[in-house]
Amino acid sequence: MAEWKRKSMIWYPYEQMKTMREPYRITDAQGVWLYTPEGRMIDSVSSWWSVIHGYKHPLLTAAIVEQAERFSHVMLGGLTHEPVLRLAEKLEAWLPGDLAYCFFSDSGSVAVEVALKMALQYYVNQGQKRRTKILSLTHAYHGDTFKAMEAGDDEDYHFILEVYGKKTDVIHIPTQIPALEEAFAVWHEQLHCLIVEPLLQGAGGMRMYDIAFLQRARELCDQYGVLLIFDEVATGFGRTGHRFVADLVLPDILVLGKALTGGYIGHAVTVANHKVFEGFYSERAEQALMHGPTFMGNALACSVALKSIELFESEQYMEKIAKIARITKREMEGFSDPRIGEVRMMGGCICLEVKDAADLIGYQQFARERGVFSRPFLNYLYAMVPYVIEEEELVCVLDTMKAWFRR
Ligand SMILES: Cc1ncc(COP(=O)(O)O)c(C=O)c1O
Repeated sequence: MAEWKRKSMIWYPYEQMKTMREPYRITDAQGVWLYTPEGRMIDSVSSWWSVIHGYKHPLLTAAIVEQAERFSHVMLGGLTHEPVLRLAEKLEAWLPGDLAYCFFSDSGSVAVEVALKMALQYYVNQGQKRRTKILSLTHAYHGDTFKAMEAGDDEDYHFILEVYGKKTDVIHIPTQIPALEEAFAVWHEQLHCLIVEPLLQGAGGMRMYDIAFLQRARELCDQYGVLLIFDEVATGFGRTGHRFVADLVLPDILVLGKALTGGYIGHAVTVANHKVFEGFYSERAEQALMHGPTFMGNALACSVALKSIELFESEQYMEKIAKIARITKREMEGFSDPRIGEVRMMGGCICLEVKDAADLIGYQQFARERGVFSRPFLNYLYAMVPYVIEEEELVCVLDTMKAWFRR
């Protein structure tokens, strides 16, 4: 066994521990830069798409320090506190429509579980017990907990589910309107929700689709009384070039995570609209939502989330994202390679899909030598940079991607 593995008992994510290469050891991080003992590199994936303000932002750090000096955490069971009250109030004001009722949790996967449980119980509370099915998309990814995996459609992550046989609770359809209409026609009486990563499917391959699909989804959900869930764990806070896709088409339940805290602390929120909240609001104890993660509404997470939203607004982040999109388009103009099947761009995301995954072997080290940290997966070489990136840094990330194909 390699020396670094013997010294470390860490089980790393998505890795065959036997063949895994030694991870880069980060000693410091500042802005878009990750520092290792050997040198620095631009984080072109924003620590799994979360660190939108870059690392060590003085205002975000101060928000955490100030709160830690008061208290870091108290549970929400029977207690509440200023940071969680203020964050919920801010989200209610900031999010579109009547998305207002915030259920906090500690990760995106758990927040998805909460959304799915909410949707199921919304109908159970009305005595509708036949609505047991979920409509979801092919190539969907909603997290690694069990129901989130089932709602997902990513064999490369989830082949373990095969032991259960064919999924019966979840129906997957492609992002095409005829498939959507057909699924509603066949299944509408048994569906409690349609869950989607709106406009941009992340871990399923940075796949982009048209807003018309979501508009039609909204109409069909209204027509058949099915709840529409937007999992904006990845797309929220500007990644698609829209603040939230929910600003364009309003879901009944919105899930946010990752960038919610500017990538400082794992936290997430499931936000329900008035109709969904009303479905639980009664004298009957059994109609309550039975969920309660220990660290929900963590005071450090809420304080840093509030500061992160404040920065997003005051520093004109939507303009920063539009600039990233403009530069990306300009730099990729005319670029092609026979090994690339498709180049996809949307807001602060670019993806080069190669025809053969073997064509990306070695890219991570190649990028590292050019001062860029990248983590391609399967056939996808992508960048989702922190929004504070400077033009020359972004050009360096994109040049590195192009240079790989010009070797
Ligand atoms: C769309 C989407 N939903 C849910 C999750 C799960 O979030 P977490 O890793 O915080 O559990 C992810 C993570 O990548 C995601 O991209």
